[in-house]
Amino acid sequence: MERIDKIIASQGQYSRSDVKKLISKKQVSVNGEVVKSANVKADPLTDRITVKGVALDFKRNVYLMLNKPKGYVSATEDRDHQTVLELVPEAFAGRDIFPAGRLDRDTTGLMIITDDGALAHNILAPKKHVQKIYHVELDIPVTKEMARGFAEGVELNDGVCKEAGLEIVGEYAARVTLKEGRYHQIKRMFGCYGAKVVELHRLAMGNLHLPDDLAVGECRELTDEELKLLQQL
Ligand code: URA
Repeated sequence: MERIDKIIASQGQYSRSDVKKLISKKQVSVNGEVVKSANVKADPLTDRITVKGVALDFKRNVYLMLNKPKGYVSATEDRDHQTVLELVPEAFAGRDIFPAGRLDRDTTGLMIITDDGALAHNILAPKKHVQKIYHVELDIPVTKEMARGFAEGVELNDGVCKEAGLEIVGEYAARVTLKEGRYHQIKRMFGCYGAKVVELHRLAMGNLHLPDDLAVGECRELTDEELKLLQQL
C-alpha cells in the first residue's frame, strides 16, 4: 500500500502539490470513495483510483521506443541541441525517463527510453554483450577486407574491439552487428579502412527490431511482447 498522493504523482501528470489540491476539491477517489486526505493509502495495482472522474492507468514504469531522427542528442538535457526527450508523447513527459544507451546526434533508428533503471542497466551492461544491429552507408565501397577485419576485431586507440559481424548489403552499404558500444564505435571501425560513415541507422537491440511502421521521429510505448524481448536479455 502506498500513499495516494505519491501514487498519482508518480505517473508524471500531476505534482504532489497538484494532487493535494485535487484532493481538497474532492476530485480524487479510491474504489468509488472520495479521498479526504493525501495520507490515504491504496494499492495502485488493484484499487480503482480516479482523478477528475478519469480512471488512473497506473504504470510502475514506462517503456518507449523511438525511431530517432538526426539532429537530436541522446541525453535528458543539452544546452545546444534538442534532446530525444522532446520527441516523447506529452503523457510521459513528467516521468523520470531517460534514453537507455546512446546514439550519435547524426545516427537514426531504434532507441529505448524508459524510467526503469534496472532494465536499462541490463541492456547496457558490457558483460551481457547484447547485440545491436546497424545499417551503415559509406563514402567508398564496402570490402571483404573490412568484413574480415571486423570478424577478427578491429584495433582502435582504446583497444581491440570484440568481433563484429559485417554483411555486405550493397556496394556502399553494410549491416553491422556489434556486441559492445564504445564511443563512435562504428565510425571509428570504418575509419581504420579510410571509410567515412555517411548514414548510420540502428535496426535492432537484442531481439527487438525497429518496426517498419514506426516512422522517423515517432515514439510509442512498447507492446507487452516487445517488452518481453527486452526483459529476456
Ligand atoms: N557507432 C557509432 O559510431 N555511432 C553510433 O551512434 C552508434 C554506433
